[in-house]
Amino acid sequence: MYALALLLLAIKSALVLGQAPVVVENKAAFAVLNPNGPFRNGSQTFEPNPNANLTPPYFQVYDERFNAILGPNPSIRVIVENDTFAFAHDGCVWIEATDQVFFTGGRIQGRPVSMINLNDLKTSPTGLINFTILPLSSDVQINNGATLFDNDLLLVTTGKGSLPPSLIRVHTQPPFNDTIILNNYYGRQFNSLNDAKVHPKSRAIFFTDVTYGFENGFRPAPLIPNQVYRFDPVTGEVRVVADGFSQPNGVAFSPDGNTAYIADTGETQGVTGGTVPTNPATIYAFDVEPDTQAFSNRRVFAFADTGVPDGLALDTNGNLYVGSGDGTHIFNPQGTLLGKIFIGVSSSNMVFAGAKRLLLMADTKIYLAEIAATGQSLNL
Ligand SMILES: *[C@@H]1O[C@H](CO)[C@@H](O)[C@H](O)[C@H]1NC(C)=O
Ligand SMILES: *[C@@H]1O[C@H](CO)[C@@H](O)[C@H](O)[C@H]1NC(C)=O
Ligand SMILES: *[C@@H]1O[C@H](CO)[C@@H](O)[C@H](O)[C@H]1NC(C)=O
Ligand SMILES: *[C@@H]1O[C@H](CO)[C@@H](O)[C@H](O)[C@H]1NC(C)=O
Repeated sequence: MYALALLLLAIKSALVLGQAPVVVENKAAFAVLNPNGPFRNGSQTFEPNPNANLTPPYFQVYDERFNAILGPNPSIRVIVENDTFAFAHDGCVWIEATDQVFFTGGRIQGRPVSMINLNDLKTSPTGLINFTILPLSSDVQINNGATLFDNDLLLVTTGKGSLPPSLIRVHTQPPFNDTIILNNYYGRQFNSLNDAKVHPKSRAIFFTDVTYGFENGFRPAPLIPNQVYRFDPVTGEVRVVADGFSQPNGVAFSPDGNTAYIADTGETQGVTGGTVPTNPATIYAFDVEPDTQAFSNRRVFAFADTGVPDGLALDTNGNLYVGSGDGTHIFNPQGTLLGKIFIGVSSSNMVFAGAKRLLLMADTKIYLAEIAATGQSLNL
């Protein structure tokens, strides 16, 4: 009877597509490691539980509060894959009305913008769905980040040669027509724009600028400091809200709009600069000044233990999801690492598709994690 119950339980587990192990990582148990090692560097992954012996993807729980985010039956599986090129790197945006997800490619010529339709999962016999590369105009020169802006995609381009980095609105349906909304600071070009978010209250666009275009050989030497800007699309005003970074990358706001987060990926300095382990791989938090929306009271929020913290997203409870060197790291609003969605390889960015669905961009794959959390709405 007992054996039969166990068998039925095993079958039930096997039937839940993508159900993945949940490993409780005891922080006190690895506070002291064998002095003879092995230790690791920030480019290598970490599984502190020597008995886990698991193949990613799975969930690592570093704080029991992560269980409420995962819910009772968390699952994760690949839903899109193409091993021939990095089609899903960054700039992921979910469109609620159509259940489409857009994303941008990385480390390849042109970095195309592609889309999937999550409705296709309902009819796919294999659980895998196909992506479509968007036929965008030549306005879009090497795309990186993206967010939602007034029901359009807002693409953040890095520029190419002398062509300026830009913020570009793109219609989400054919013919995917676009409008450039910003490409300079009082006549000066940006370096290589990276990512953007819309502020939940003012609806101004906040965006980051890095020098990766120069370090990767397709932009001129730095033209202006790497900093964070605020653009008011109504008045056209653009202003600097924070500086003092190495490579300010992902940007996000708490649901109330009072706290800003900036991920600094300075540890990575592109093809020419390589990896500099003493540079920031750090997420900073700021207060958003009520009158000016300048960022003040800068503090270290968290340091990514693996790789660099890149794309940022929040759930409705204000927990921060960070694309990192081994998957998604999830921090509570106080900066405690609650857990990881551990895929064992880098995931630069992720996006909530509403409630209980988080999509992880992993270059040649997209993972769908089904967890209990709901994404903060970006449809502002
Ligand atoms: C980290 O260690 C691995 C394995 O020894 C090595 O291949 C890699 O180059 C190291 N990375 C850095 C940035 O030092
Ligand atoms: C992968 O992408 C390449 C390049 O676009 C394409 O030719 C190939 O058909 C794709 N393979 C699959 C399995 O979708
Ligand atoms: C994806 O594309 C391939 C090649 O065109 C096709 O055989 C397959 O049926 C498609 N899959 C889905 C889920 O549409
Ligand atoms: C796309 O074209 C339509 C029809 O002309 C226009 O209303 C819309 O504003 C355009 N969208 C963008 C982002 O350029």
